Amino acid sequence: MRQAIAIVSFGSSVETARVQQISAVEKAIREEMPQALAYTAYTSPTIRRILRGRGIFIPSLEEALEQMLEDGITDALVQPTHLLYGIEYDKMRETVDAYAGRFASLQFGIPLLATTEDLRELAAILSEAYPRKEGEALVFLGHGTDHFANVVYPALQMIFHMQGRGDVLVGTVEGWPSYEDVYAQLHVSSLRLVPLMLVAGDHALHDMAGDQEDSWKCRFEEAGLAAQCVLQGLGAMPQIQELYRKHIRIL
Ligand code: CO
Repeated sequence: MRQAIAIVSFGSSVETARVQQISAVEKAIREEMPQALAYTAYTSPTIRRILRGRGIFIPSLEEALEQMLEDGITDALVQPTHLLYGIEYDKMRETVDAYAGRFASLQFGIPLLATTEDLRELAAILSEAYPRKEGEALVFLGHGTDHFANVVYPALQMIFHMQGRGDVLVGTVEGWPSYEDVYAQLHVSSLRLVPLMLVAGDHALHDMAGDQEDSWKCRFEEAGLAAQCVLQGLGAMPQIQELYRKHIRIL
């Protein structure tokens, strides 16, 4: 038996996000399976193309699986770093299913937010990391998706409120709640914006904190609010890395 783990991320073109936040999660996951050979893959073809242009070669999941077969791997776990069950997750599952017969065993791990308990734990971790400040709202900005898994975002806001953090709002860049939905719920004149994403990559730097007029920061400021941005991805937090580890332990 030759064991391996393939750690699959969406990827990021922002080098600091990639080397600090994605790599930190990869390292944490690898430590949980020290006996296994480790492979890395990114699912975004755009990100892989951009990186290729910089001389950095990261395989797709298919390419990583092919490499594993070539290396004689018999038993493998494909572990996504993705936050949600969603479109990307479904695509990965299809790929894993297509390769399943070529390994003695091929497991597919769950995303970071896979259960109600995961959401409650995430809210508790973030509450501790970002304590309430008088007169200030705390706005978490997630990616958002057309997939049903998008309900995780309003659910997370509800959990924060039920845990006594009525100052927390959760919005998304591409899903629901949108900027307008978050703005309509604000009752204070200052706020902190924090990415609810694995990395503080393009969406955090540009859509959240960018200086162009359509960023969340600029739109809040245009509306007369004081907006402060935190540029740290979830992947950099040891407590979040531990949540990934826990998921592997229960497999
Ligand atoms: Co996006």
